[in-house]
Amino acid sequence: MRAVVFDRVGDPAEVLQVREVDRPEPGRGEVLVRMVASPVNPSDLMYIRGEYGIRPECPATPGFEGVGVVEASGGGLLGRFRKGKRVAVVNDRRGNWGEYAVTTARQVIPVPADIPDAQAATFFVNPATALALTRHVLNVAPGQWLAQSAAAGALGTMIIRLGRKYGFRTVNVVRHDRQVDELKKRGADVVLVDGTDLPERIRHATGGGAPFAIDPVGGETGTRILEGLAPGGRLVVFGSLSGRPIAVDPRPLIARDLRIENFWLGRWAKQQRVLTMLKLFKTIRSLAREGVLSTERVEEFPMDRVTDAVRRAAEPGAGKVLLRIVGR
Ligand SMILES: NC(=O)c1ccc[n+]([C@@H]2O[C@H](COP(=O)([O-])OP(=O)(O)OC[C@H]3O[C@@H](n4cnc5c(N)ncnc54)[C@H](OP(=O)(O)O)[C@@H]3O)[C@@H](O)[C@H]2O)c1
Repeated sequence: MRAVVFDRVGDPAEVLQVREVDRPEPGRGEVLVRMVASPVNPSDLMYIRGEYGIRPECPATPGFEGVGVVEASGGGLLGRFRKGKRVAVVNDRRGNWGEYAVTTARQVIPVPADIPDAQAATFFVNPATALALTRHVLNVAPGQWLAQSAAAGALGTMIIRLGRKYGFRTVNVVRHDRQVDELKKRGADVVLVDGTDLPERIRHATGGGAPFAIDPVGGETGTRILEGLAPGGRLVVFGSLSGRPIAVDPRPLIARDLRIENFWLGRWAKQQRVLTMLKLFKTIRSLAREGVLSTERVEEFPMDRVTDAVRRAAEPGAGKVLLRIVGR
């Protein structure tokens, strides 16, 4: 089969190749999936650079999520049951950017036919993270403020729509002026362009600071989001797009009782009961249909143009880049 492969970690635009590799064989409890499409997420790019929480064993194939059709089961009841189904494919082992992928039967989630490929391919990572952060980890109540950075991205947009759906209010931090109106049209309550006075502007907009904040950027942006918290406020860090550390002054942290926590979907999902996850998938399906947890501005590239795809994904202001995988 053909797959995207890298032999060493490094700049994704330099190290990725499309070449012939052996088709993976599913073991017991696993399924073989004929892949249809897979997004280029920030986590994939970090993985290829060797900067992610999971280290690749080269030669490796990237791709943590995607959509495909279950072709075969390696044994086990669930795998047999999934055969022939169109599924969202979660893969933290061998990668989805190839004509076929192998993952555990528990990590393929049937997706109804009325959910298009682009949405099915992005069915898990961002929707589950947006729901888990707002509804489970922080449990932001109606009327409460949630501040977020990287608000114009795919996940940020879902958080804005979840705010509309469940009644919490969002303060959204972006890095370009033109994104202010765009996000307001999508339902953002407040949109602020990042800058040195961001903490004061967050405090002003929220009447004293946000009780909750989420930050996938880190660096100065993360520091400012932390400083914009209300007394007793909680910041959840869940990414490091800037590649830079957050500066923490212990004095206000202690005096104002601020908390910094972390979130990683893979770990969180493993800690949940099966029933919780099944309910989560059901909620994602229904909110994807409503357009609340849908991915906007999808740009497709054929798998053979993976180098152009990863370059595009790393450009400021890019939408979600999707690799279209057409098997032979
Ligand atoms: N911990 C977890 O389990 C988990 C799960 C899902 C996602 N995440 C993280 O969530 C983040 C967003 O994912 P996504 O799929 O929404 O990505 P995305 O659609 O590519 O959007 C990324 C957004 O981040 C902004 N951004 C990129 N680099 C930045 C920087 N250095 N400073 C400030 N803003 C920056 C971009 O701004 P522009 O619009 O200006 O380009 C864009 O709006 C990623 O860091 C991802 O790793 C973490």
